Amino acid sequence: MITEATKARFAREVAKYPAEQKQSAVMACLSIVQQEQGWVSQESEAVIAEYLEMPEIAVHEVTTFYNMYNQHPVGKYKLSVCTNLPCQLRRGREALKHLEDKLGIKMGDTTADGVFTIEQSECLGACADAPVLLVNDRHMCSFMDNEKLDQLMTGLRAAEDTQ
Ligand code: FES
Repeated sequence: MITEATKARFAREVAKYPAEQKQSAVMACLSIVQQEQGWVSQESEAVIAEYLEMPEIAVHEVTTFYNMYNQHPVGKYKLSVCTNLPCQLRRGREALKHLEDKLGIKMGDTTADGVFTIEQSECLGACADAPVLLVNDRHMCSFMDNEKLDQLMTGLRAAEDTQ
């Protein structure tokens, strides 16, 4: 649900642009919703569209273009696995399979405890470090062989247990 407090945050972003270009704040508004709710629902897109006076489909196009916007609820750690050619040529498929087997979920799913989600990603711009994955849209992990994947999952689980 988009609250008045959320709309006040939208207003601060809209104020950064000329009045006739308020649609330029669409990415900022989507980011605010995701910060607050963890994902961007179609209902949220509709509220943003109305607020920015733009078509809902135009907001949806932005949400679906950028991997960083979650279109459904995700786990605490979103693992975005690159599935583009250079990563696949360097054992990316095996890395993905290992991750799926270890977590007991498939690409696009979230573990039952809500800790991990595996997402597909287009090229992450680190092809020389293939295969790669991104944790929570921020932390790039390079040369992800099975051993490094195990270390990553163990480390994230340990961090989870200490909270
Ligand atoms: Fe995977 Fe470019 S193909 S980072």
